[in-house]
Amino acid sequence: MTPIVAPTPMSRLRRLRRTASLRALAQENAIGVDDLIWPVFVMEGEDASQPIPSMPDVERLTVDRVVTAAKEAASLGIPAICLFPYIDPAIKTEACEEVWDENNLSNRATRAIKEAVPEIAVMTDVALDPYNANGHDGIVRDGVIVNDESVEALVKMAVAQAKAGADILGPSDMMDGRIGAMRQALEAEGYQDTAILSYAAKYASAFYGPFRDAVGASGALVGDKKTYQMNPANSDEALRLVARDLQEGADMVMVKPGLPYLDICRRVKDQFGAPTYAYQVSGEYSMIMGAGANGWIDDQAVMLESLIAFKRAGCDGILTYFAPRVAKLLNG
Ligand code: PBG
Repeated sequence: MTPIVAPTPMSRLRRLRRTASLRALAQENAIGVDDLIWPVFVMEGEDASQPIPSMPDVERLTVDRVVTAAKEAASLGIPAICLFPYIDPAIKTEACEEVWDENNLSNRATRAIKEAVPEIAVMTDVALDPYNANGHDGIVRDGVIVNDESVEALVKMAVAQAKAGADILGPSDMMDGRIGAMRQALEAEGYQDTAILSYAAKYASAFYGPFRDAVGASGALVGDKKTYQMNPANSDEALRLVARDLQEGADMVMVKPGLPYLDICRRVKDQFGAPTYAYQVSGEYSMIMGAGANGWIDDQAVMLESLIAFKRAGCDGILTYFAPRVAKLLNG
């Protein structure tokens, strides 16, 4: 597309910015409640919640309170909620057996939500880190994150989540070959309609810090995740990963983190035209909230500006901790 602009004064681009109604008519992108996926943290217990100091206004919730949150989300029109479990360190092991237990915390929460609010889509996290004694997304042997053995555990985890009723599985582990292996197992086990939203281009990012506090992985993580998550300096590699995951049977793909990686969102959308999502991660959320709390920025205005930026970059939807706040605002 070659934009045509007559010379000034024949063309004055400010004409369409003069009033609110003209600006509204000329607006190219919009954020809607149906673009939102709300990530929530689940913990054991009953009728309780715990604040997360590095994520203002975000709390870990017991299963019954997650159900209440899901009801609220559905009534606001938010299409999906994404579950992340906070696991007692005492049940974390090196083999991560808890991940494929049908009654683990995440699967109990999924069943409870699907029973109480069947209309909301439940997305789950497929990665070993919440249950792993060393905090990694894969199984560690002699200091190495072993790929194929991790994929076996992830496949069992995915099938257990599908069985619990998850609508969307979100493999966030970045092992090679996991999408194809999961898709085959889901077909074989009768879960052919379970969708996979692959964290296809997930970077080894320092923006995940507050999340690791929220799920209790900060102290546990031994080393870093650079042998499986992407190098922030790379862009072409993201396209290869997305192509590979789509070929293996992913229905939707994600770029993560969000705002610092909008160039990747745009390239992925332009290249593949697949349903494309961005994760506005914990560090992005906390920077906006922290600066807002200090009076340095207007956090509500920055929240809206950041979300429209994802739409402008071609994203079909955004995982964001702001989901209920922005939904309330949009619903007036
Ligand atoms: C791990 C996982 C992470 C996030 C989602 N799933 C952290 C990590 O890779 O260490 C980060 C989300 C956020 O920062 O909000 N499987």
